Amino acid sequence: MRGLFNQKQQDERIEELLEKTVKIKTNLFQETKDKEQLNPQKRLVSINNVLNAVKGKLGRPKTAINIGSGFAYETVLLHIKGIKAVGIEKVHLKNIQALTLFHRLEILLVQTEELDFSKSPAILEADFHKMRFDKQKVDLITMFYLSKELIMNPETLRRCEKLLKKNGKILLSTEVNSKVARQILNSKNFPLPKGFSVEIIKIPRNFEKTVVILKGRSR
Ligand SMILES: C[S@@+](CC[C@H](N)C(=O)[O-])C[C@H]1O[C@@H](n2cnc3c(N)ncnc32)[C@H](O)[C@@H]1O
Repeated sequence: MRGLFNQKQQDERIEELLEKTVKIKTNLFQETKDKEQLNPQKRLVSINNVLNAVKGKLGRPKTAINIGSGFAYETVLLHIKGIKAVGIEKVHLKNIQALTLFHRLEILLVQTEELDFSKSPAILEADFHKMRFDKQKVDLITMFYLSKELIMNPETLRRCEKLLKKNGKILLSTEVNSKVARQILNSKNFPLPKGFSVEIIKIPRNFEKTVVILKGRSR
């Protein structure tokens, strides 16, 4: 994909996608209480702002997995921006709604049974903590609108560390402000793998106010 669309074309495709989301009526449903994810337009705008803000900091990733992909907003945006992306989401109901939503928006999001970047944009239904990875490595791992359940489980970052290529990065985005994010990252309970460096970026006037980029020092 990279090279097929220049920056201007990518921006136009995202603009078109946003216009289409306004026109269609969606009835997304989820079992948890937070309602932000049920608004595709708001989520796409917020995620797009995050990706634009960190553009110069990610290197030039070719492949990305996004863990906890929900309705697959970030999977699709990463793909449009030229990064082959597979979203991993354990909730079946979200995955089937994501496929329907993006087909209505004329984006060919597909389901994959394995980590196959040639299928991008794709979603894989699995619990990230139970997945088996052979020797696969990726350039970028994202977790947008990060859930506590994922980030506070030491298994999550341990697995990410194994999956990352040399110079690979982990991008976390959260609705909490940078002060709170810093406190969480500095707390004794935060399971940051040894040797990882942390960069915090503020995103003003955005739903996701803070982005954290993690990278291994030796990478
Ligand atoms: C707060 S939602 C964010 C959804 C999406 N990333 C977004 O930005 O709109 C977190 C998602 O992570 C998923 N999740 C949590 N733990 C997971 C795991 N171990 N494996 C796969 N998905 C998981 C949840 O089901 C939920 O859909």
